Amino acid sequence: MYNPQLTSDGQLRHLLSVEGLPKKILSQILDTAESFVGVAEREVKKVPLLRGKTVCNIFFENSTRTRTTFEIAAKRLSADVLNLNVNTSSQAKGETILDTVDNLIAMHADIFVVRHKQSGAAHLIAQHVAPHIHVINAGDGRHAHPTQGLLDVFTIRRYKPEMHNLRVAIVGDVLHSRVARSEIHALTTLGVPEVRVIAPKTLLPEHVEKLGVQVFHNMKAGLKDVDVVMMLRLQNERMNGAMLPSAQEYFKTYGLTQEKLDYAKPDAIVMHPGPMNRGVEIDSAVADGNQSVILPQVTYGIAVRMAVMAILAGNSASSIAGNGS
Ligand code: CP
Repeated sequence: MYNPQLTSDGQLRHLLSVEGLPKKILSQILDTAESFVGVAEREVKKVPLLRGKTVCNIFFENSTRTRTTFEIAAKRLSADVLNLNVNTSSQAKGETILDTVDNLIAMHADIFVVRHKQSGAAHLIAQHVAPHIHVINAGDGRHAHPTQGLLDVFTIRRYKPEMHNLRVAIVGDVLHSRVARSEIHALTTLGVPEVRVIAPKTLLPEHVEKLGVQVFHNMKAGLKDVDVVMMLRLQNERMNGAMLPSAQEYFKTYGLTQEKLDYAKPDAIVMHPGPMNRGVEIDSAVADGNQSVILPQVTYGIAVRMAVMAILAGNSASSIAGNGS
């Protein structure tokens, strides 16, 4: 079956969603990321793998972590980086997204990193560009955020290498979360045997169990003996009308406090993709506590994004071992 993310010989051409990517490609990204973790510890934090290439960040939606870590990742690969400020670009005068892309291609852009509030925006660009140009989805609507899903799984693998023996709980607004979708696909494809979602019914998609997860509405039962607790932000900007009584009520039932975290295994790690709503989905004491790996997630995001761009440009873990690392 045709997969727009892969070339005819099964190599990664675009990264648009984790869904539909084989385990082999996900493992290739994680293994390649592993080889980039050490670059940050060098005096000169650079490898020459994308020298001469131009990476364009086009973010139509706000971002702190994704945009900056893509920029750092591209610079560490020695690429030239162009950050299009959409608010001051000709988009504001009515130019279409594809006309904007065509103009950047005329400037010899090689890789587009795209965030958009509409699901499918990155797919649209991927269908439009020539075969030598690559598109990475940096979050589209509530559909997918593949590099976030991959960096989360990479972080889990670093702290809990026995992936085939893990119990992971994803807690909160699964319904509106592109991150949750990408995480669930990544975890199940990589063979994590037990993925749970914990949320009120109003914040779960219909038939969510078809994604291969176990459904819980109660934190005590859902967190029991898990190895990883992944908290999600309440996506207020994507909610139509009141789906919850109040933020305080939500925190009381689903907010992660130390008391609730103690239902999990004693060495469980706590994750959050950010941005966090402290006191809504997570207590500050837990977010900043010794089980939290929230900031390491951000750091590992650089290595994972370097890996994706390096692979798209034709470099994977095996070639990197002998080239610039
Ligand atoms: N996790 C995430 O996508 O964060 P930003 O919105 O800050 O990029």
